[in-house]
Amino acid sequence: MTRIAVIPGDGIGTEVIEAARTVLDAACARHGVSLSYTEFDWSCQRHEREGAMMPADGIETLRGFDAILLGAVGWPGVPDHVSLWGLLIPIRRAFRQYVNLRPIRVFEGVQSPLRVADDVDFVVVRENNEGEYSEVGGRVNRGFPDELAVQESIFTRVGVSRIADYAFELAASRRGYVTSATKSNGIVHTLPFWDEVVAERAALHPDVRFDSEHIDALAAKFVLQPQRFDVVVGSNLFGDILSDLAAAVAGSIGIAPSGNLNPEKEFPSMFEPVHGSAPDIAGQGIANPVGAVWSAAMMLEHLGHAAAAADILRAMETTLAKPETRTRDLGGTATTTEATQALVVALG
Ligand code: NAD
Ligand code: IPM
Ligand code: MN
Repeated sequence: MTRIAVIPGDGIGTEVIEAARTVLDAACARHGVSLSYTEFDWSCQRHEREGAMMPADGIETLRGFDAILLGAVGWPGVPDHVSLWGLLIPIRRAFRQYVNLRPIRVFEGVQSPLRVADDVDFVVVRENNEGEYSEVGGRVNRGFPDELAVQESIFTRVGVSRIADYAFELAASRRGYVTSATKSNGIVHTLPFWDEVVAERAALHPDVRFDSEHIDALAAKFVLQPQRFDVVVGSNLFGDILSDLAAAVAGSIGIAPSGNLNPEKEFPSMFEPVHGSAPDIAGQGIANPVGAVWSAAMMLEHLGHAAAAADILRAMETTLAKPETRTRDLGGTATTTEATQALVVALG
């Protein structure tokens, strides 16, 4: 029996995870896949009640699962750096989920003010364990005119090499093209080092075409020529920003999925939509469930159930094509429940 830890989290996280479970159940039933779910109420609500996002042995509890399905974390009242560093980021790090895989596709029927091409199909490979996200640094002289904050970025040879290798291997199985996001013209220690290490790994993959682009120019190309990309590899912060931009290019942040992967499968990987808890629409039943559903399909694929995952993708193609089964963020009219039921119907 495959064991899934489910952490719906905050805001629309709870709404889209319910949707994802409904679609997962339908796909698994069709394919004879059996998953068992254990749900955890780890969230900002728990923080307000018990003073912590998760129990002290939370990581140990998750260790025994085959995968983790997460909604979103963060809610007004608990500072974001407290909620995120109290739940999401420790999971990514404890389980060496150093790849954050974020595919982008433009679906038939889905419009976006940024949509310039139909053949957009690329993957952001985001470094997920180091880089700009670090606890090294500090704030001094709080409240005084000479107050200052320092934040160190950490790039290691091991960390950069393994994310680059993942990107090159992924590209070799796709259209054979890697773009590395850099800013070595402005950030003079870490990103020249990133460039050097990525170029060394590129040399080991002569079959894959390789370009390096400055993040500012790359952001513009995401909008103007998204169809040219295949695999885009970037540091933790660059990958974070590029993945929301890419989601907007493809129509809505509400459809973007992600896998926080431990490629060696030594530890559980975690699957979650790219979006957050969306306090502005939470509780209204209008959140787009597709980002969570697609993340669940990525989880099935990771667990070896490729046929069930492919069925979910086909169902998404069917429902996204029609305004009555698309949610409002995509110009449709469906509620979360209606969009979810349509996915179940499309699964057959
Ligand atoms: P957000 O992704 O929650 O929302 C950004 C905008 O996109 C909002 O207007 C929202 O309504 C819209 N949106 C997001 N998901 C949608 C969906 N499924 N359907 C329709 N519209 C959708 O980002 P934010 O406002 O910057 O962050 C809100 C909270 O979520 C913060 O606490 C933040 O730290 C947290 N957050 C958590 C994660 C995560 O858990 N991985 C990711 C991003 C943000
Ligand atoms: C994401 C989110 C998180 C990140 C935040 C909430 C810490 O934006 O998963 O993209 O930056 O990794
Ligand atoms: Mn993000």
